[in-house]
Amino acid sequence: MQKEPLNLLFIGFGNVGRKLASILSVEKAGYSGLTGFSPRVIGIITRRHGALVNYDGLKLRDVLAFYQNNAGFNHKHPDFTEMDAKTAVNKLPYNVLVELSTLSIADRGEPARSYIQSALEQGKHVVSANKGPLAFSYLDLKLLADRNDCMLLHEATVMDGTPVFNLARTALYGCQITRVSGILTSTTNYILTAMEGGVSFDQALHQIQVMGIAEADPTYDIDGWDSAAKICILANAFLSGCLTPLQIPRQGIREISGRDIETNSGQGKKLKLIGSAWMENNRAAARVAVESIPIDHPFANIRGTGSVLQIETDLMSPLIIAHMSPGLNDTAFGVINDLLTISREFQRD
Ligand SMILES: NC(=O)c1ccc[n+]([C@@H]2O[C@H](COP(=O)([O-])OP(=O)(O)OC[C@H]3O[C@@H](n4cnc5c(N)ncnc54)[C@H](OP(=O)(O)O)[C@@H]3O)[C@@H](O)[C@H]2O)c1
Repeated sequence: MQKEPLNLLFIGFGNVGRKLASILSVEKAGYSGLTGFSPRVIGIITRRHGALVNYDGLKLRDVLAFYQNNAGFNHKHPDFTEMDAKTAVNKLPYNVLVELSTLSIADRGEPARSYIQSALEQGKHVVSANKGPLAFSYLDLKLLADRNDCMLLHEATVMDGTPVFNLARTALYGCQITRVSGILTSTTNYILTAMEGGVSFDQALHQIQVMGIAEADPTYDIDGWDSAAKICILANAFLSGCLTPLQIPRQGIREISGRDIETNSGQGKKLKLIGSAWMENNRAAARVAVESIPIDHPFANIRGTGSVLQIETDLMSPLIIAHMSPGLNDTAFGVINDLLTISREFQRD
């Protein structure tokens, strides 16, 4: 499929990084669409769980087993290194930076934003599942990528692997998007759906944490920051906005009680956390709010970890894309799909 394998540098090896590594090694034979796709992971850097570097490519199957057996990487692994992320991004001979580190709102997407910037400045491609850098610096990073003729792809940042950015870039080419709205955070939708069935808020949160879907800091989900980051990326990418999660009106689900859910149910409605972005006075605007959705609206039937986005355009009538029960496979797929896109371009070089 490609002349030279892509050399990847992973920043982060948490739930998403390990799932991605597993699909690219242990599980790969089960996915015929990945036949011939053999990127070479030359570095994996974590914050507190060690790092590995091997220019010939790490043996991902062994790396996963080692990580599991040792709760991280250490000197016992032949490829162990003390290298930190900043050094790795600046020194290693990778073609694609794969940014899978933790979402940071308080630090406005840092340090991941700086890693991505450094990679793009060197003309390296970037794939990010991390929303922070895109939510806070979409325009700057995109301009930098364009200037240096490299790709900055981030399909997994919104609705996991659902082709939202791919859809806009390809299938909706020729339409101007005017408004987007939807259920963007799996964790909050899972909690609200579980509460409809009588499960307590705390129990539901624990369940979604065990599934590896909640953010490392779950208050980012519960207080609406995750949705705010996602709707800002959408507003900035589709509506040429310059918004950050700190600037937009935001509500979370922390205050929602079982009684609120029952009351809405009695009125034929469901409570959903909705992110929306639209044009107002020629500028992009966005918000995140808990909304009472009539039971016959398509958003009301998105249950559990499901997510949905309605896209309105000038030319096409509104369309809705839904993802019924996304999990880690889907996020990993979003990253893999971006890597395949880069791989196709790379082959042309
Ligand atoms: N989980 C999902 O379903 C999902 C879905 C879509 C998008 N995402 C996004 O994907 C990213 C990864 O998610 P995850 O669930 O894999 O998170 P996670 O399990 O918390 O893992 C985060 C990884 O990033 C590493 N890390 C954090 N800061 C770092 C730094 N400064 N330098 C190097 N490594 C650093 C952590 O290292 P240590 O373990 O040593 O701290 C860990 O390996 C997040 O940004 C998340 O928002 C996740």
